[in-house]
Amino acid sequence: MLPLLLLLLLAASAAPARAGDPYAYYDWEVSYVSAQPLGVKQKVIGINGQFPGPPLNVTTNWNVVVNVRNALDEPLLLTWNGVQQRKTAWQDGVLGTNCAIPAGWNWTYAFQVKDQVGSFFYFPSTPLHRAAGGYGAITINNRDVIPIPFGFPDGDITLFIGDWFNRGHKELRRALDGGTLLGAPDGVLINGLGPYQYNESVVPPGIVYERINVEPGKTYRFRVHNVGVSTSLNFRIQNHNLLLVETEGSYTSQQNYTNLDIHVGQSYSFLVTMDQNASTDYYVVASARFVDAAIIDKLTGVAVLHYSNSQGPASGPLPDPPNDQYDTAFSINQARSIRWNVTASGARPNPQGSFHYGDITVTDVYLLQSRPPELIDGKLRSTLNEISYIAPSTPLVLAQLFNVPGVYKLDFPNHPMNRLPKVDTSIINGTYKGFMEIIFQNNATTVQSYHLDGYAFFVVGMDYGLWTENSRGTYNKWDGVARSTIQVFPGAWTAILVFLDNAGIWNLRVQNLDTWYLGQEVYINVVNPEDNSSTLPDNAIFCGALSSLQKEQSHRFVYSDAVPVALWRNTFSLLFLLASFTIWLQ
Ligand SMILES: *[C@@H]1O[C@H](CO)[C@@H](O)[C@H](O)[C@H]1NC(C)=O
Ligand SMILES: *[C@@H]1O[C@H](CO)[C@@H](O)[C@H](O)[C@H]1NC(C)=O
Ligand SMILES: *[C@@H]1O[C@H](CO)[C@@H](O)[C@H](O)[C@H]1NC(C)=O
Ligand SMILES: *[C@@H]1O[C@H](CO)[C@@H](O)[C@H](O)[C@H]1NC(C)=O
Ligand SMILES: *[C@@H]1O[C@H](CO)[C@@H](O)[C@H](O)[C@H]1NC(C)=O
Ligand SMILES: *[C@@H]1O[C@H](CO)[C@@H](O)[C@H](O)[C@H]1NC(C)=O
Ligand SMILES: *[C@@H]1O[C@H](CO)[C@@H](O)[C@H](O)[C@H]1NC(C)=O
Ligand SMILES: *[C@@H]1O[C@H](CO)[C@@H](O)[C@H](O)[C@H]1NC(C)=O
Ligand SMILES: *[C@@H]1O[C@H](CO)[C@@H](O)[C@H](O)[C@H]1NC(C)=O
Repeated sequence: MLPLLLLLLLAASAAPARAGDPYAYYDWEVSYVSAQPLGVKQKVIGINGQFPGPPLNVTTNWNVVVNVRNALDEPLLLTWNGVQQRKTAWQDGVLGTNCAIPAGWNWTYAFQVKDQVGSFFYFPSTPLHRAAGGYGAITINNRDVIPIPFGFPDGDITLFIGDWFNRGHKELRRALDGGTLLGAPDGVLINGLGPYQYNESVVPPGIVYERINVEPGKTYRFRVHNVGVSTSLNFRIQNHNLLLVETEGSYTSQQNYTNLDIHVGQSYSFLVTMDQNASTDYYVVASARFVDAAIIDKLTGVAVLHYSNSQGPASGPLPDPPNDQYDTAFSINQARSIRWNVTASGARPNPQGSFHYGDITVTDVYLLQSRPPELIDGKLRSTLNEISYIAPSTPLVLAQLFNVPGVYKLDFPNHPMNRLPKVDTSIINGTYKGFMEIIFQNNATTVQSYHLDGYAFFVVGMDYGLWTENSRGTYNKWDGVARSTIQVFPGAWTAILVFLDNAGIWNLRVQNLDTWYLGQEVYINVVNPEDNSSTLPDNAIFCGALSSLQKEQSHRFVYSDAVPVALWRNTFSLLFLLASFTIWLQ
């Protein structure tokens, strides 16, 4: 225990001092662990030997300090999907804001979860790492003085659902670098585990599956995150209603669903009451959307809901998915049915809807159009408005602070230019405290979801065809939900509004890992002209044009090859703690 305490104390001294609000400390080692979720042995990314990683469970306004030791053989960054670090992009953990943590180094993130509640997750943002794991939950609880708009649940259950490849992330990167799209995944995992053998001709024997233990009559809050590579999933629990109550930090108008489409990078909370007779266990299912019928069996994740008084295993067919494998109409209508509960309290005591976004004048409009991946100078790339983003070796935020010329341009076009596509580091120049309207136009053939760091945005419209000025007539100006990740259906558009009150350079990316890797992202620069105070933390890592500012790290440690999850727990962590203790003593 002593070494851990020491680590915590030392980490504390590196954290920003904000009087009053409590601190939560985490000490994480990110390393390969071996696992075989679909029966094929592979190296996955674990945190302290766990896959998925440990939860970050905090309360509104808490300060979070996470010391990350990179024991992978590649540079690493973790990003906090949906957490809005205020007035600094410094802790955001994407390549435009931070130099990646070199292999064998550690870096301590320190940020405050200011004025937020809800369900989010973290994941490694470095190229395609999420395809190998490294993700975990971020749960931000209400402060005691702020009521939640439903009865306090009897338990809290986190589920990570996601498509999965048996190929490792390096192999997936090689495929994309070689100009080949990834093709169909090999399966769908639930909490890092493969499907329950609901049908012997579909699921091979010996697959370890997730079993969720519950008590009859109780109500649980299920927090479900799609952490996959690129596949939209339909989530459902046999014979049980899903009462949707929250998405990415906003309390929704409560409605029952028998199933809900969850797109890549999205998070939802449902209340589920154990109101069935427990004659059997029940299936918990996450199945791929809009894929060929021939591969749907393979792309179905199945866990088991086990009542303590259950009479036997789940059996029979899985609960039906929506019967529209090639038609997005059901899904788009379902998405439109998700509304904000404008009378519920948010992280602050005032109701969520007291901010009337529909009455605010829009100052900037960006129409961002995507296309299917295409060749640019012989390389397969993805674009937004014909520009494929390339990450500079000096992060944007550092380049801005140190006035490094020529790293990026503030000339990102506000509409498609109908010109030849190019690779560039061109970013959006936002206006501090401006109100920006962004329309995503999807001219590709798959569902995409977009995420904006640093903010929650209002989802005001979603429809088929090409967006025009007249489309504004269909906007929801009253109870569009505020969130940070939104889907855009193929051949359709989605419109969002965002109040740019958070200074920084913020990543706007597609969450689908393949097209993100190929360049489908941009950043939004938001400068507060009245506050140029630097927020550069003392422990900043320097790279690119500024690498000469970097001091050698004294706490280098060695990369070790993948250890099975269970073994790691018992021996490796102990050894590591002892090793770090020895280093401290020196
Ligand atoms: C998370 O924190 C809350 C509030 O401190 C606590 O009630 C809850 O049990 C914790 N959940 C987990 C999974 O640790
Ligand atoms: C590495 O971790 C140690 C404590 O474990 C901490 O003192 C040091 O500041 C960390 N380095 C960085 C760059 O965060
Ligand atoms: C909205 O929130 C209020 C306040 O907590 C709650 O009483 C009400 O039931 C909620 N309404 C819906 C439709 O979710
Ligand atoms: C198992 O799956 C196969 C292939 O999809 C199907 O033909 C068969 O009917 C299923 N068996 C049961 C018991 O559902
Ligand atoms: C949702 O379904 C449950 C039964 O599972 C029911 O008790 C509850 O009243 C329903 N709530 C709403 C808002 O429809
Ligand atoms: C339990 O519920 C199932 C499904 O609703 C029903 O078919 C079955 O007859 C019930 N069993 C008992 C013992 O009530
Ligand atoms: C970027 O926007 C700011 C604030 O609106 C403005 O002052 C600045 O001139 C713009 N820069 C460029 C290069 O357009
Ligand atoms: C993409 O744009 C072209 C030209 O406007 C149009 O013909 C095509 O239908 C669009 N495809 C999708 C999926 O939006
Ligand atoms: C920041 O702004 C103040 C006054 O607005 C100015 O005096 C100072 O030189 C500026 N600092 C930098 C680093 O630009």
